[in-house]
Formats: sequence, structure tokens, C-alpha cells
Amino acid sequence: MKRIAIFASGTGSNALKIIQHFSAIETPIEVALIVCNNAQAGVLQIAATHQIPTLLINKDIFFKGHHYLPQLQQMQIDLIVLAGFLWKIPPKIIEAYPNKMINIHPALLPKYGGKGMYGNNVHEAVIANKETESGITIHYVNEHYDEGKIIFQAKCAITADDTPSTLANKIHVLEHLHFATIIEKQLTA
Ligand code: GRF
Repeated sequence: MKRIAIFASGTGSNALKIIQHFSAIETPIEVALIVCNNAQAGVLQIAATHQIPTLLINKDIFFKGHHYLPQLQQMQIDLIVLAGFLWKIPPKIIEAYPNKMINIHPALLPKYGGKGMYGNNVHEAVIANKETESGITIHYVNEHYDEGKIIFQAKCAITADDTPSTLANKIHVLEHLHFATIIEKQLTA
């Protein structure tokens, strides 16, 4: 069995799609753990509904303590998937999961990445710059925000009447369409 830990801080619509994907198909891959830094996050409810163990993490332990590495090792996690996780990953976790941690970013990196470029900030910047296309990037995580090797990108067109919010919807459609399949490829390659 290959075991995925999803790190998410928010609504968790990507986490839900990934959970649904791997419970619907016959595969030796499972979402074994949801790691979350916000007790109010919607993703915790999704985990409860699907009976997936959760780990609610604390800032001091994550950044200055053991970084939850003992828990991740104990759960025998093979791949860490960041799906809307807003804390920077400590170097010790990155070292422990070389090429075994991937992130999804709601723009076409290397454009619109880096510190502060998350959620609606990304879509607002893309629209303000009058871009004609945007998209998603799935990439390995290294010690620099949004700079790890790119695994996959998909694009969508931006029309004159798009707003940050309509663009966000288009991006979510792409994320929900591709993320689970790319994760599956990573674990079966
Ligand atoms: C996604 O748009 C993802 O690209 C970004 O955070 C968002 C998470 O959305 N990193 P959700 O919580 O999965 O709905």
C-alpha cells in the first residue's frame, strides 16, 4: 500500500477530490492522513466524513520542534501532497521526503509564485496584469516557495469579463480534473 498525507489549511475541495478518486478505483494507494493547521478548516469535516485520520498541528512543534516527523514516519507516509496548505514547509521535512512532496499552485509558474502569492492574491494579480491565460502547476516542493521542479501544468483562457472570482472557479475545475491523476502517476511510475 502507498500512503498519502494531504496537508491542507482550508476548504479542502482538492483533498475531497483526491480522497474520492482513490476510494473509487481499485488501487494500492490510499489517503492515510490529513494534516491541518486550522481547527476550523472545512477539510477536517471532510476527513471525518471519510474516516481519515487527522493531525492538527501546532506552530512551535512544526517549525521549532520535531516537525511532526515521528508521526509521519509512524504512519508510513510515502507521499506528501500540499493542497492549499499555507505554512512554509520546514527544511527538515523537505529533507526527509526528497521528491516525495508535491504542491499545487493556482497559476502558471514561474509567473505568479512566491511569498504572498496564494489564493485570491494570485487571481487578482493575474487579472490586474490583463493576462489572456492562467492555469495550474503541480510541482515538487523544495526550500524555496513555488520553485521546485514542475511536474505538470494545465491552462485556461481568460476572457474580458473574467474577475478574480470567476478565474478562481476555472482554476478549481482544472485542479479537480488533474490533481488526483497526477498523484496516481507519481506513485505508480
Ligand atoms: C487551491 O486553489 C490550490 O491551488 C491552492 O489552494 C487552493 C485550495 O483550495 N494552493 P481547496 O481548499 O482545495 O478548495
